[in-house]
Amino acid sequence: MTIQAVRGTRDILPDEVGAWHRVEAAARELFARYGYREIRTPVFEQTELFARGIGAETDIVSKEMYTFADRDLSSLTLRPEATAGIVRAVIEHNLMNSDPALRVYAMGPMFRRERPQKGRYRQFHQVDVEAFGFTSPTIDAEVVELALAFLDACGVKQRELVLNSVGDSSCRPAYVLRLQQALRELAPSLCGDCQRRVETNPLRVLDCKVPGDQAAIDTLPRITDHLCAPCGEHFAEVRRQLELLGIPYRLSHRLVRGLDYYVRTTFEVTSHELGAQSSILGGGRYDGLVKDLGGPDLAGIGFAVGLERLVTLVPAGEAGARCDVFLMPLAAGALDSALRLQRLLRDAGLRVLLDPEGRSVKSRMKQADKLGARFAAILGDDELGRHVWTLRDMVQSTQADVDEDAILEHIKRRLHG
Ligand code: HAM
Repeated sequence: MTIQAVRGTRDILPDEVGAWHRVEAAARELFARYGYREIRTPVFEQTELFARGIGAETDIVSKEMYTFADRDLSSLTLRPEATAGIVRAVIEHNLMNSDPALRVYAMGPMFRRERPQKGRYRQFHQVDVEAFGFTSPTIDAEVVELALAFLDACGVKQRELVLNSVGDSSCRPAYVLRLQQALRELAPSLCGDCQRRVETNPLRVLDCKVPGDQAAIDTLPRITDHLCAPCGEHFAEVRRQLELLGIPYRLSHRLVRGLDYYVRTTFEVTSHELGAQSSILGGGRYDGLVKDLGGPDLAGIGFAVGLERLVTLVPAGEAGARCDVFLMPLAAGALDSALRLQRLLRDAGLRVLLDPEGRSVKSRMKQADKLGARFAAILGDDELGRHVWTLRDMVQSTQADVDEDAILEHIKRRLHG
């Protein structure tokens, strides 16, 4: 039996990778303009980091982590997201002491054992952005604006920004109690998952997608009606600045997100073009997290974009030629000249391929065509005798005899002139 990729993982094949390169390049270029630098943290961490950072009652931690015992029996987990690991690194290396504007981004694979479906994988990739040490609502608006600018740079047009505030430790507990009371009355009519969440994590009920539950959930108390004054003012200022910047958004009191570390601003960007898994990116503020993980009292805010979902939305790029010159040593004894020429042309920065299998002229011409080669260089018996190559311009459908020594100059003139 042949071995296949593990369920929920997928290969990114050479024909697809161009879109990945484009979004990764757009991220690097744009984030640098906003003062962000890259950080690379390990793919696995101590399990406790995620349990404490993301919240033991979240779906991610309670059901979806790839956790395993190391040989010394310590518990390790493949990262389900990037934020917790970045916070750990910030604390471990005291980055806040040396960097007055601690803004970082990361890219890479994340792992969650969710039920695989279109747009939902067990290994997926995120571009993640985090800013530390800023409490002002201005950074909330800037981070949201950066998220949208990134989608713009990737050519994603159909999208909606959804915004909420989930309050903080001074107003949320009272709201959650109120929510829980209301939920206990409704519980018998809710789905099994929600009935469980009423006791374990009432906020998550707001995230329920089961159609039969929706009418009841709409009657529940709304967090935005129960924010304390500082959270209310913070949220009003974030909204004012977004409006100032001309950024449209939809308020959703049900946007509670699947991670427990959020306070105040939370946001997501969704696209109808994605189907059921419609969230392209999600993020928010997490002011208590650095302290909870043993660091200083440092504010934080960020977001992560799901790249599998993003690349399905970016416009298809040009297929792109893979070759400038395709060499065809046809005569017996032509291979040595071809290898020398190949090296010379590659050293000059040209993309050069030859068919070492010695197939027919027709088949080699087909290959040159398929690879998008601009030139085919032919060395048959006749050319070998005259010390020239036949250089065929595949775009202009012209050909000329060119001395071996002159080929590079000839090609350069044609390519750039
Ligand atoms: P998240 O909402 O869990 O947030 O994930 C962010 C994005 O990752 C989602 O919007 C989605 O595009 C993608 N994603 C999540 N799970 C999967 C999956 N199983 N398959 C494919 N794509 C997926 C976070 O991860 C937070 N750490 C974001 C953040 C950064 N908050 C503050 N800073």
